[in-house]
Parts: sequence; C-alpha cells; structure tokens
Amino acid sequence: MAYEKIFKPLKIGTCEIKNRIALAPMNTLYTIANNGLVNDQVLNYYAKRARGGIGLIITECVLATALASKFPYTTNLHLYHTGHLAGHEELVNVVHHFGAKIFIQLSIGFGRQGHALDGTPPPAPSPIPLEIKPENLPPSLAKLVLENMGLLATRREEQIPYEMTVEEIKNQIKEFQYSCLLAVIAGYDGIEIHAPHGYLEHQFFSPRSNKRTDLYGGSFENRARFTIEVFEAARLAVGPNFPLGIRLSANEHMEDGFTHEDMKRLVAILAAGNPMGSRRPGVGNNPIPIPGIDYLNISDGSYEAVKYFFPDEEAFHMLGEATSLKEVVKVPTICPSIHDPNNVEKVLKEDKIDMISLGRQTFADPDWVNKVKEGKKIKKCIRCNRCLLRTLQGLPVRCFINPETGFEKYDESLRMKIPKKSLIGLKIPDQFASLRG
Ligand SMILES: Cc1cc2nc3c(=O)[nH]c(=O)nc-3n(C[C@H](O)[C@H](O)[C@H](O)COP(=O)(O)O)c2cc1C
Repeated sequence: MAYEKIFKPLKIGTCEIKNRIALAPMNTLYTIANNGLVNDQVLNYYAKRARGGIGLIITECVLATALASKFPYTTNLHLYHTGHLAGHEELVNVVHHFGAKIFIQLSIGFGRQGHALDGTPPPAPSPIPLEIKPENLPPSLAKLVLENMGLLATRREEQIPYEMTVEEIKNQIKEFQYSCLLAVIAGYDGIEIHAPHGYLEHQFFSPRSNKRTDLYGGSFENRARFTIEVFEAARLAVGPNFPLGIRLSANEHMEDGFTHEDMKRLVAILAAGNPMGSRRPGVGNNPIPIPGIDYLNISDGSYEAVKYFFPDEEAFHMLGEATSLKEVVKVPTICPSIHDPNNVEKVLKEDKIDMISLGRQTFADPDWVNKVKEGKKIKKCIRCNRCLLRTLQGLPVRCFINPETGFEKYDESLRMKIPKKSLIGLKIPDQFASLRG
C-alpha cells in the first residue's frame, strides 16, 4: 500500500490508534462569549475531522481551573467542575461514533499570555511583561498583524502580571488534578498537559520569565519543579494505566530563555517518572510509583518567538528537535506542521518521529487522511495564517481555502444515528472508589 507507514496503527500507553495522524490541538474559539461550554459547532467541527479519517483527535486547549478561566486566550473551553461534564461526555461520544480516539488538552493557565476581559493583571511566576517583536513573527503573520494592530483582542503584551504565591501554585495544581479526574470520568481516551508556547509551565521553566528566589525559581531543578509537580498530580489523579502525555516547546529560541539541552533534561525526568514513589496525603506510608509520560507532543518557541511554532514552510527544523527529544524519552513522540503526505510518509518511515499532527491543514481539508488513503487530491493549506489572525481578533476560526470551516453546525451529513439503547450515566472508575460515598 502507498503511504503504508501513515496507516500503521500506534499504541500510546494503553490506547490503540488506527493511524499516525493526530489533529493538532487548536483553539477554535467556537465556544462563544467565553462561557467555556461545548456547543453544536464544537461537536460538529470535531465530528468532521474524526469522519475524515484522523486517528487521534487532540482537543483544543481546555482551561482546567477557575482561575485559569478568568485569563483565557480570548475564548476557551472549560473543564473544572461537574457542570462541564455533559458537554465533554457528548464530545467524546460523537468523536468515538465517527471512529477516532480523543485526548483532551488541559491547561493549568496561560500566565502572562492570558487576557482578563477587564484588564486585570494575570498570575505568573514573576511580574515580567511579554515582549513581542515583529521580526519574531512568521513573515505571513507579521504582515497581517501590522495591518490590523488596532483590532487585536489579544494585544496585552504591555500588561504586567503579578507573582503567584506558593499557596496559589499549590491550589492551582490541586484544582488541575481534579480536572484530570473529570476528564477520565467524561470518557476521554487520554490527557495531554498543555505546557508549550510560553504558557504557565513554560514561564516557570524559563529563566527569562521566572526570576523567583523561592523553591520555584533559580536553579534548573527549581524552574522545572512546577511542570514536574503538575505532571505528578495528573498521574496520581488518572492512575498508572491511563494515557498521559505533555506538550512542550523543544526550545525557547530567546537569548536568555531555556535551551534545547535544558528541555532534554526536563523530558528525561518526565519520561522516567518517579520510580521511588511519592506519598499521597492520606495514604499512610505507602509510596505510590509514578510512571512517566506515555507520549510527548512537541512544539517550539513561544508568543515571543512565534515563527518557530507557526512556520511558513514544512517544519523540518522542529522535526530535528523532536527527533532529538524522542531519543531521550523513548515513548511515542508527535511533531506538527508537516502537511505534504509524501513528507509525512518519509519522516515516519525513517523513524524520525512516531506521529504527525495536522493543524491548519485540517482547516483547509478535514478529509486529508481519507483522501490520502483513496489517492484523491487534497485542498492544500497555504499557511496564510488568516485563521490565526481571526483568533487574535477574538473571532472564531474560519479558513480562506475552505469556506465550510467554522460552519460545521449546519452540515446535516454529520448527524449521528440515535443510539437504540438509552445511555447510562457516567461512572466513577474503580481507582476513585473513595468518591462514591
Ligand atoms: C487557530 C490555532 C489555534 C491553536 N491553538 C492551540 C492550542 O490550543 N494548543 C496548542 O498546543 N497549540 C495550538 N495551536 C498550534 C497548533 O497545534 C500547531 O502546532 C501549529 O498550528 C503548527 O502546525 P500546522 O502547520 O499543522 O498548523 C494552534 C494553532 C492555530 C492555527
């Protein structure tokens, strides 16, 4: 078969995925007015990508704490209390119905890259504002941004964040842990911790944005602490056998930021887990071993170095970094932004990477996978970044190439057959038996 490697199944932890293509996590802004809820447009947008043959849907970044939800990008989905479960349960059912697996990307917060609607300063490791220079944007985006400066809803680089207290950090991690539990209960097949692109974990890890003098700042170990604690809390919530991964930027690409070598050290720790075990409060003296990450999803740069994660061409630079991290972690590794099926097949065949995620390309053509299988012509993404400009303006994603993107709720062909049996309620998994009382 042509494209044999693309259609070879992959196992991530306990989850079997039918091919090597993931939907890249992409905030679509389809949950309107920042109410954080799944709606018909969200459901049908994902249904269409699942029906198009993608093996693994990774959701857009979902805000996992009440504090995080006060400082969104401009609009994000939420999952931090039981009131959010109904929408997520339906999303899982819809994606499964159309034949894909679905992981949720969960965020503990955006730090200085979040935007309170009323301008309140956001929480961050240190009170250091962002610095966005046009030369660090991809040329296609720089042009659009400069032409539309006055309309950018996300234009808050001048805002000065406040320094989070240690108590606040601990509380946020606890709340994030609860959100992971809700994701398991909603039926997701896996969880991806959202930690790339200059968001909160990245800000703690970077010597550029973290100037703290306590346990969370200074040395490599201290700057890595926040990310490791978030991961350990998530693992303790979901148990050893539930697929758990993390998305990280392979390199900060700023003079005083973290380097690729620093990132290699961090992913080695996350992959090793904690074989000595940690002590969960209330469990007496029984140490609980913490298995490492089940997969790694790579990206690059941050809002201060956007051109590295929205390349105007096939992302071979990022692939090099992803391969170098894959060699360290020895778990399935995902790389974005290689759109051409011949390139995808080649890098998979050469074992440079285990899975490719498609982002903007799936706005242009949600049927990429099925078309590749059937030898049909793909509508190519031209990397014009108009989708991105809309999100910077607080507008839901549309696509210059594909006018149907953003209007999936009107697509009648995506209707599911009504299940014959009525569905039972949600179940608390065995490992959380204590919640049953
Ligand atoms: C509109 C838009 C929203 C995005 N939102 C997220 C997000 O929520 N989480 C994330 O990790 N990456 C996000 N990304 C980055 C993508 O996952 C991906 O890494 C990037 O688009 C480059 O890959 P591509 O060339 O296949 O689009 C977003 C990208 C776009 C275009």
